[in-house]
Amino acid sequence: MKRTRIIGIVSVKGGVGKTSITSNLGAVLAKNFGKKVLLVDANFSAPNLAMHLGVVQPEVTIHHVLDGKHHIFTAVHDFEDSFHFIPASLYYPKRVSYDSFKSKLKHFSGKYDYILIDASPSQEISATLDAADALLVVLSPDFPTVSTSVSTVRLIEKSKKQLLGLVLNRVQKKSFELKRKEIEDTLGYSVLATLPEDQRMFHSLAAMRPYTLLYPQRKLTEKYIALAQHVTGETLPKVRSRWWPF
Ligand SMILES: Nc1ncnc2c1ncn2[C@@H]1O[C@H](COP(=O)(O)OP(=O)(O)OP(=O)(O)O)[C@@H](O)[C@H]1O
Ligand SMILES: [Mg+2]
Repeated sequence: MKRTRIIGIVSVKGGVGKTSITSNLGAVLAKNFGKKVLLVDANFSAPNLAMHLGVVQPEVTIHHVLDGKHHIFTAVHDFEDSFHFIPASLYYPKRVSYDSFKSKLKHFSGKYDYILIDASPSQEISATLDAADALLVVLSPDFPTVSTSVSTVRLIEKSKKQLLGLVLNRVQKKSFELKRKEIEDTLGYSVLATLPEDQRMFHSLAAMRPYTLLYPQRKLTEKYIALAQHVTGETLPKVRSRWWPF
């Protein structure tokens, strides 16, 4: 039986890249590391994980599960025979409590190597903090995001869950950006990965496929592989070719 590790991808700041990181880290863990992976949308009021993965109107979602209408196994969707995901409803006719989220995920114990939870930036983040074994904090290198991340870090510390580290997203290497060291000193945790800004992310959104699958040789994919190495503790041989033209 597998030891399932549940990792929450969190930030109390919206729009910093939680969903992008959930889908791309998941894709890399499955494709490059051969892991069995489930992604779960826990952004209950403004979900969009499914849209990153080609599903616009899922029939059975985490909302139906939390509402007691369906078993969680029936909400599992397959992405290209590579990994699984559980979407959330963009619109659900009634408010559902997420108190049972953690216990619902327990049904998957031993079935996956990794469950990645795409958290909400709102107070719904508590469902992710409750269900996860460990957390990755996503942020970008600007002052408002880093200062908001102090609250994210404090919330995690209060939850007594393990904070694996920081994922610095949309880095442009511009002089106005906060430096990695300044961010680490402010928050007291290490940056595990520095993910560059790449406009091709918008092509990936339009194609509804993770960037790392569309652009397997790009720098951003290389960085996602490095992040997956941190998460798994496993190393892969370097595969990027110098001469690759794309
Ligand atoms: N490295 C990147 N380079 C360029 N654009 C990016 C990068 N990462 C994410 N984005 C873009 O930033 C936007 C927000 O990303 P995403 O939806 O993943 O954030 P989020 O934290 O999940 O947002 P929310 O808090 O609303 O759930 C998207 O348009 C995405 O394509
Ligand atoms: Mg999101």
